[in-house]
Amino acid sequence: MSVSDSFEPPAEPGARLRHPAEPWRVKSVEPLRLTSPQERRDALEQAGYNVGLLPADLVYIDLYTDSGTSAMSDRQWAAVMLGDESYAGSRSFYRLEAAVRRYYGYEHVIPAHQGRAAENILSRILIRPGHQVPGNMYFTTTRTHQELNGAVFHDIVVDEAHDPAADLPFKGNVDLGKLERLIDKVGAEQIPYVSLAATVNMAGGQPISLANMADVRELTRRHRIPVILDAARAVENAWFIKQREPGRGEETVAEILREMCALTDGATMSAKKDSFANIGGWLAVRDPQLAEKARNLVVVYEGLHTYGGMAGRDLEAVAQGIEESVREDGIRTRIEQVAYLGDRIAAAGVPMVRPVGGHAVFLDARAFLPAVPPEEFPAQTLTCALYLDAGIRSTERGAVSAGRDPDTGENRCPRLELVRLTIPRRVYTQSHMDVVADSVARLHARRGEFASGVSFTHEPATLRFFQSRFRPVASAPLFGPAAR
Ligand code: F0G
Repeated sequence: MSVSDSFEPPAEPGARLRHPAEPWRVKSVEPLRLTSPQERRDALEQAGYNVGLLPADLVYIDLYTDSGTSAMSDRQWAAVMLGDESYAGSRSFYRLEAAVRRYYGYEHVIPAHQGRAAENILSRILIRPGHQVPGNMYFTTTRTHQELNGAVFHDIVVDEAHDPAADLPFKGNVDLGKLERLIDKVGAEQIPYVSLAATVNMAGGQPISLANMADVRELTRRHRIPVILDAARAVENAWFIKQREPGRGEETVAEILREMCALTDGATMSAKKDSFANIGGWLAVRDPQLAEKARNLVVVYEGLHTYGGMAGRDLEAVAQGIEESVREDGIRTRIEQVAYLGDRIAAAGVPMVRPVGGHAVFLDARAFLPAVPPEEFPAQTLTCALYLDAGIRSTERGAVSAGRDPDTGENRCPRLELVRLTIPRRVYTQSHMDVVADSVARLHARRGEFASGVSFTHEPATLRFFQSRFRPVASAPLFGPAAR
């Protein structure tokens, strides 16, 4: 992979002194509660040292996820009032269908209540036991549905995606050699589809290039293997293509999004990301037979094929959100806010994934807390420290999220041991970003005090990161009175 001529390297650490002003103003506010250090220590203990189990009221800045946490626009709230709650043939469904067709270009649209519901339907239709599914890095729910249906997932992302320091424009690209070798080894008939994510969440929100998608399309076409896009953050990916890929700077984000989708046979969508909806999703395909199967299954798991687990008002909010998502000023502000936080953290010398991705800043917990052994979960430990320090909730994206190998039962040991500071869309201000950057820098300055991490006291079998509980391995200062 080469760095293209037109790729602008990220600004030097500290160079970004502010991010562009938002193309909206605030119409409604939601009060936040400040907590004392003692309250946070007690709350974290009760939550089993899993910030995901904290009551949200005890969180000051919630960077757990960008999923369903965006601020909806006044137009979206107005659309909510227009929701048609007819059980069958809701007008709101047709509005959503038209928006997906127009902006994503897929003919058949099947609503589902969120991304993983679309993944469930797709996996049940396409996967048979013994199948092999290649993808540009795993995502937790996506791989779980693939495995529950009997497939084995194969990571075919470029090697650099696993290296936090590799500062390259398209770290979400597929390594075509890896894909070709897998096809040769297992045979094309064993591969129900290639799973392409844009952007790649677990790699740090890193984009895939259009050129790489076209190469994947060409290779899979020869072997008659479908390509399914995870479109949750495809608009953010399209923005990166516009900025970084040679010859794309003059195209609109909407045009690039259409081109990306045109290189795939279908998509699963979590509308809780790019589309600013609090709930919602869809599955879309070109093949009418596949669509027929999906409609049959969606009735079983979600609801009728014209509502798919969503109220009419949710369908409206998603449709309106799709239209807003491709506006250039909005997507620019979004990406630059994340970059601003990244720059401030980098300026403090904190190890993190480079370049900064679309939806989050990912801290390199292994480098941040080198004295905490891998089996004591440095990333999980760092999420606890961030909460204790300033009431910030982040996400573990390392060994706890990776789970265990279903065959051997062994802990997976991903090279990336990350903490994700995920930025909800249109929610937090530059001052909030400064609070976060200051806290990260403060903890980094105290990193010598962290000598041990946490261990499991309760470990669920699937998607364990959501419900697991831990205890501190030793009463290091992190968990004691020294925490501010
Ligand atoms: N695909 C990607 C790339 C995702 O990031 C997510 C969700 C999903 C699929 C599943 O969508 O939540 O609507 O069922 N990611 C959230 C996150 C949970 O925090 O990264 P969903």
